[in-house]
Formats: sequence, structure tokens, C-alpha cells
Amino acid sequence: MRTHLALTAVGLAAFGLATIGVFTAFAAASANTVKPDAAAGKTESVQCALCHGSDGMSVATNIPNLAGQNYEYLIQQLIAFKEGTRRSGVMNEMVRPMPLAVLRNVAAYFSTIRIAVNTDKAKK
Ligand code: HEC
Repeated sequence: MRTHLALTAVGLAAFGLATIGVFTAFAAASANTVKPDAAAGKTESVQCALCHGSDGMSVATNIPNLAGQNYEYLIQQLIAFKEGTRRSGVMNEMVRPMPLAVLRNVAAYFSTIRIAVNTDKAKK
């Protein structure tokens, strides 16, 4: 009886771990396959606006503009900041606590802002 209970406990623990494993794998997979939501990203990007501007045009010349930047590039940089493979005091702290789904949304938002490029009017 006691052995049976112990085995059941081990079984439940194993089942629990397996469930968490499956759930984690699912969450990771859905974070990468669910289409990012640019509208949600616009709301979520208020925390970026202080530096990068609400329209993705940065507030200072030493901060990069994000408006119209390619989605793939933006999300790669955000993941690199989050994982620390790209170092930036500000950005590492900024995105470390943010879920991947939110990063994908804000990347989608900034990438969908339309910008115009006019090489005839290059700054002098
Ligand atoms: C306190 C100011 C500040 C805030 C807030 C901030 N950033 Fe940044 N961000 C910077 C600076 C400065 C850099 C340049 C980092 C470097 O030196 O490489 C940068 C770089 C980036 C880059 C890389 C751009 C490129 O051209 O490679 C991305 C993408 C980015 N930020 C996205 C975001 C997002 C999304 C948010 C909001 C979740 C955010 N940032 C919030 C200051 C800020």
C-alpha cells in the first residue's frame, strides 16, 4: 500500500513535469507562430516612446529611430538584448522582463509605421 502510494506520487510528479514540459514547449511554439499584433504593440510601446518616440522617431540623435525598420531586424535585436548577446545598459534592462509575445507586438508596430525616403532632400 505504502509502496503503491509512493509510486503514485512519483507517477504524478512525472506527469506534472511532463505537463509543464509540454506546456512550455507549446507556449514557446505559439509565441513564435502566432502572428504578432501591431495594434496591441502600439499600446505596449508606450514604454519605448520616452526614447524612441511614439511614432518611432527617436527623441535624441544618439537613440536609433525604429519607424519603418524591418520586423525581422527589430525582433532579432530585441531577442539579442533580452538574451544579453547584444549589450546595451538601457535596452538589456528594458526588455529582460518583457515576454517574447510583447516584443513581437512592438516590433510589428514599429515596422508597420510608414516612412518616406527622399534622397533628393539629403541633409546638408
Ligand atoms: C531610456 C531610453 C530607451 C527606452 C525607454 C527604450 N530604448 Fe530602445 N534603445 C535605446 C538606446 C540608447 C538604444 C541604442 C543601444 C545601443 O547603444 O546599441 C536603443 C536601441 C534599440 C533597438 C536597436 C535599434 C537598432 O537600430 O539596432 C531597438 C530595436 C530598440 N531599442 C527597441 C526598443 C523597444 C521596443 C523599447 C520599448 C519596449 C525600447 N527600445 C525602449 C534607448 C531606449
